[in-house]
Amino acid sequence: DTLAAPNAYVRASETADYVRSKLPEVLQKPKVAIVCGSGLGGLVDTIDAEPKVELAYSTIPNFPRSTVQGHAGNFVFGTIGPQKTPVALLVGRAHFYEGHTIDLVTFATRVCRLLGVETMIVTNAAGGLNENYEVGDIVCLNDHLNLAGLVGIHPLRGPNIDEFGVRFPPLSDAYDLDLRRRTHEAWKKLGLDQQKRKLHEGVYAFVGGPSYETRAECRMLRSLGADVVGMSTVPEIIVARHAGVRVLAFSLVTNKAVLDAGSRGNDEAIQTMSKSELEEHLNKGKANHQEVLDAGREAAKDMQALVKQILSDLHEG
Ligand code: HPA
Repeated sequence: DTLAAPNAYVRASETADYVRSKLPEVLQKPKVAIVCGSGLGGLVDTIDAEPKVELAYSTIPNFPRSTVQGHAGNFVFGTIGPQKTPVALLVGRAHFYEGHTIDLVTFATRVCRLLGVETMIVTNAAGGLNENYEVGDIVCLNDHLNLAGLVGIHPLRGPNIDEFGVRFPPLSDAYDLDLRRRTHEAWKKLGLDQQKRKLHEGVYAFVGGPSYETRAECRMLRSLGADVVGMSTVPEIIVARHAGVRVLAFSLVTNKAVLDAGSRGNDEAIQTMSKSELEEHLNKGKANHQEVLDAGREAAKDMQALVKQILSDLHEG
């Protein structure tokens, strides 16, 4: 039973020891962890070519295996920026919808903490709910709606692990203000404010997936105050905050969630439009995994530049 099994502290310590044993001394204490979302694995190109160590998730004890197309599944260690800051990248993440327990979804975050990580930058692909967002825009998260968590699917459920943090951690300041401020500065410094891709601040709604949301669900999430919706990130952020890790999170808007009611709520359309007109109307904006990956590829370069700039500035003071 879950209460008798070795707790996440014991398991994460074992994994951290293993990982450390595979790393040269300069990489053993990563300061920053970067979680690469769908199609954002290119973030690994921001680290120095040497020294670099890649560990496949499948070789790491206790690690969940990623099963989604487009998620490679590598724990990568290297240095980045002028200060050669040691970093750890999680290329590919475990999602709840894959069938992993919520505990396993956040396991890597805990391993990062035990390795010494102080700051975590989490990226994801998300559907845009805010009408002002376009595909390819980047959203710096300033809050979240943990829909699964509010009904008990929560990574901190169970006996509290005191080695990591307190029983009832606050989350009102989860998204680090200083890091967000630095993000906007870095965006301008890179001249990215001069192009059409926008940087927003917004609220992320975490849903279990794997089906994309219905139109009615999109309207519900929007009316609850969400700007983007996705199937990851929030559990990791909660576990990171529980353990005192500073958090910065970005969503890449890979599709616009459909808010209009389509044929529902429109009695006339269903009676007067031809079948093909109706189908075309309904297919508009329909989310699909390929679209999500394509948008990721194009915007990934800006996201990479942004993350690199933030990290360089961070260690200048
Ligand atoms: N909904 C949920 N998750 C997503 C979406 C979406 O529209 N796009 C990318 N990830």
